[in-house]
Amino acid sequence: MRVPFVDLAALHRTVEEELRQVFERVLERSSFILGPEVLQFEEAFASYLDVTHCVAVNSGTAALHLTLQALGIGPGDEVITVPNTFIATAEAISAVGARPVFVDVDPVSYTMDPAAAEDSITSKTRALLPVHLYGQSADLDPLIEIARRNHLALVEDACQAHGATYHGRKAGTWGIAGCFSFYPGKNLGCLGEGGAVVTNDPDIAEQVRMLRDHGSIRKYEHRIPGYNFRMEGLQGGFLSVKLRHLEAWNERRRLVARKFNELLSGSPLVLPAEMPYSGHVYHLYVVQAADRDALRNQLLAAGIETGLHYPIPLHLQHAYSRLGYRPGSFPVAEAASRRILSLPMHPELTDEQVDYVASVLMESLQCVTPSKAPAVV
Ligand SMILES: Cc1ncc(COP(=O)(O)O)c(C=O)c1O
Repeated sequence: MRVPFVDLAALHRTVEEELRQVFERVLERSSFILGPEVLQFEEAFASYLDVTHCVAVNSGTAALHLTLQALGIGPGDEVITVPNTFIATAEAISAVGARPVFVDVDPVSYTMDPAAAEDSITSKTRALLPVHLYGQSADLDPLIEIARRNHLALVEDACQAHGATYHGRKAGTWGIAGCFSFYPGKNLGCLGEGGAVVTNDPDIAEQVRMLRDHGSIRKYEHRIPGYNFRMEGLQGGFLSVKLRHLEAWNERRRLVARKFNELLSGSPLVLPAEMPYSGHVYHLYVVQAADRDALRNQLLAAGIETGLHYPIPLHLQHAYSRLGYRPGSFPVAEAASRRILSLPMHPELTDEQVDYVASVLMESLQCVTPSKAPAVV
């Protein structure tokens, strides 16, 4: 059996006719950049999250970058974030000329450790940028309190958390702004690049709206220098189609996760923890294994694809060597990076595939699978 890590072709077959209709409409109207399809998606996504503004852009990286710029963060400023994330989180901080300050994460949730964040605040700190990793919200209450006490902005990197909740309310809606990516493999993904900033703050929304489109308020009228970070019409249309299925797809991911949890419960793997405050949407199902690389090879030999999110923490990347961090700076993130393994996880994963992945894992780890356990007399 072959088990792909994600299967976008299978996912898109389930909505193929609707996606083709979007293409026909956009072709007919020639509404290729922004336009009615993007506007409709912005309204639908804002309503789904229960926020007042959604500004669609052309990537999650752009969403983060424009949010920080809209907050007036720039050279001389510091933004606190985590090292166990995709590099785009830190790149957005660099893009506005500010300095990324990394802090370690909680060993159970893998998300920002509030005490570490508080310890790293200096007179230059302007914002906290926690990441809702693998589909699970960071612990926001203490971060909101720290941000309030220290007059910092709280920006949420919700690029892996479409539909996730924190105490029942959607991730991405707690801070001054939430930033989403619609990279194809995300829980809600484009057929290309895309992203969005969501906020209840009209000034942030207006700034981001201007910045994404060359700083313009009307065509050829430019209030500030900006960028071309606009979402394409096709992507807006595709996202509106897929948004209607997001809850069902997330539910299927949760079921797959539950099945993995049951089947792997007797193994030495560290399974993902669902924190009490969180509605997890399992963008990724990440386990920890002592001999991760050997296990990964065994799975591959059995036709099972896995991923590593992420093998090198950002503070040890060459791109950020100038910041002066060293191996040992963030022991929790570093230890996790050596042991984490992302199992196949997507809504089209069949029960048979989940059983197969679990049985290969149990065999590789030399565990007794429940079906093979000797009968107790
Ligand atoms: C946590 C995180 N932040 C930021 C990004 C950047 O999003 P994009 O690839 O759409 O620019 C991603 C997506 O890859 C991500 O996973």
